Amino acid sequence: MKAIPKTLSWKVLAALLALALTAAACGSDAETTTTEAEVENSESATDADDGDEPTAEDDGDEPTAEDDGDEPTEDATSSTGELEIFSWWTSGSEDTALQALISAFQAGAPNADIINGAVSGGGGANAQAVLATRIQGNDLPDTWQSGPGGRLTPYLEADVIRPVTEVYDDAGFRDTMPAGLIESLSVDGEIYAVATGAHRGNNLWYNKALLDGAGVDAPAGDYTNEQFLADLATLDAAGVTGLCLGANQAFAVDELFENILLGVVGPEGWAALRDGDRSWDDPEVREAAEIFGQVLDYVDPDASALTWDQAILRLADGTCAFNSMGDWAYGELINSGAVDNEDFGYVNQPGTDGVFMLVVDAFVVAKDTPNWDLAKVWLTEMGQPETQLEFNIAKGASPVRNDVDTSALPPYQQGAADALAADATALSIVHHGEPAFQTVMSEAVTIFAQTKDVEQFVQALASA
Ligand code: GAL
Repeated sequence: MKAIPKTLSWKVLAALLALALTAAACGSDAETTTTEAEVENSESATDADDGDEPTAEDDGDEPTAEDDGDEPTEDATSSTGELEIFSWWTSGSEDTALQALISAFQAGAPNADIINGAVSGGGGANAQAVLATRIQGNDLPDTWQSGPGGRLTPYLEADVIRPVTEVYDDAGFRDTMPAGLIESLSVDGEIYAVATGAHRGNNLWYNKALLDGAGVDAPAGDYTNEQFLADLATLDAAGVTGLCLGANQAFAVDELFENILLGVVGPEGWAALRDGDRSWDDPEVREAAEIFGQVLDYVDPDASALTWDQAILRLADGTCAFNSMGDWAYGELINSGAVDNEDFGYVNQPGTDGVFMLVVDAFVVAKDTPNWDLAKVWLTEMGQPETQLEFNIAKGASPVRNDVDTSALPPYQQGAADALAADATALSIVHHGEPAFQTVMSEAVTIFAQTKDVEQFVQALASA
C-alpha cells in the first residue's frame, strides 16, 4: 500500500495526505464490477416533475452562464437548472442530514432543482461501484460524496473532478476550517472538496439495560480488550447476544477489525502500518486478529442479514448488547427515538481512549459539470455554520468549522467535537484507505470471519 496519511493532528495528517495524493498510484482496481445497487431516489427532492436525466441542455429553461465551465458571473440565486447530488446517505438519519444540506442549497438557489441520486449501501461500496461505472460511461453526477485519502484517489486519477478552491476563497472557508483538513483535500495547491463534518469511527455502543441485567459494569475509558471479552462471555452466560453487527455490509465487519486493531497498535502503530513503515505481518496485527476472532464468537446469529443501521437499532431494542461503529450510529439511534445515556451508552473501543479514528465526508464536483454555478451554491451553503450545525446534529458527526457553537450539540457530540480537537487522530483505512488495499483487506476480513486463520489473514494483508 502507498504511504498515505498520518495520525496525531490535522496538520500532520494534511501534510502526509497531500504528499500521498500526488503520489498515489493504486486505486484503479477499485471494485468496478459489482453494481447490484441501482440509482435510487432519482426523483427531485424539491418537486416531482423531473423524470428526465439531468442533461441541463434539454430542460427548456434559459441557459444561464453555467454551461461553459467558467466562473459564473451572474447571481447564483437566480440560476435555474438541476444539480445531481450523489451520496450513500439513505438510512433514516443520513437522509435527514442530507435534507438539511438540500434545504440550505434551496435557500441559496430557489429556482433550481436537486436530483438526489443517493445509492443505498452503508460505507459507500455500492455508491463507489456505481460511480466507477458512471466514470466509464462519462455520465457523472454534478457533485458527489468523497473525502480525504483513498476517497479522492480514483477521481483524481481519472481526472474527473475540478478544483473548488474559489469556493473557499469566496466564502472565507480558509479562515474557518482547519488548515490541516483543507490540506487533506488539496493537491498541488488546489482544493478539491468541501467537508460536511467529521465522524469518529472508534465507538463501542452498548445497551445499558442488557449490561445491567447481566451484572456487567458500564465500560469506562480504560476499558481493555480483556475486559471486553470477559463481558461478552458474561453476557453469553446470561443468555444475551453480545455483539450486534451489520455483516450484510462488508464495511461493518471491516470496521470492527479496524477498531480492534487501533486499540492494539495505538495511533503511532496505526500511522506506521498506513505509511508502510511497519509490515502487516506484525505480532500486534496477529494479536488484533486473535481478539477479532474471539469477539466474532459473540456475534448476533442474524448479523449476515443486517445492515449497519439495522444492527444499531437491534442494540437499541435490546436484541444484542454491543456494537462497534462510527458515530453515524449515534445519529441513527437518536433518529429512532432512543435516548442517550438511558437506552444506550458509549465508550471508545477498548484501548483507543484519547484517539479519534477520523472519517470525513466531503463533496467533490465533476470536472465537466455544466452546473458549476449551482455546485458553487451547494458547496458554499454546506459550509455555512448553521448548515454545519443542523447537518451534523442529524448525522451524529462534528462540524469542521471552528466557529460553530458546539454547545448546541447533544452531549455525545459535544464530547466528540472536543475529542476531535484534543485527541490524536488516526485516519480510517476502511473509509479512507487506498481502494486497492481496502479491497484486499475487506476480502481478507470476510475470509477470516469464516476460517479464523490468523496466519492466512496476516499474510493477505502483508502482501497487499
Ligand atoms: C461512512 C460515511 C458516513 C456514513 C457511513 C455509513 O463511509 O463517511 O457518513 O454514511 O459510511 O453509511
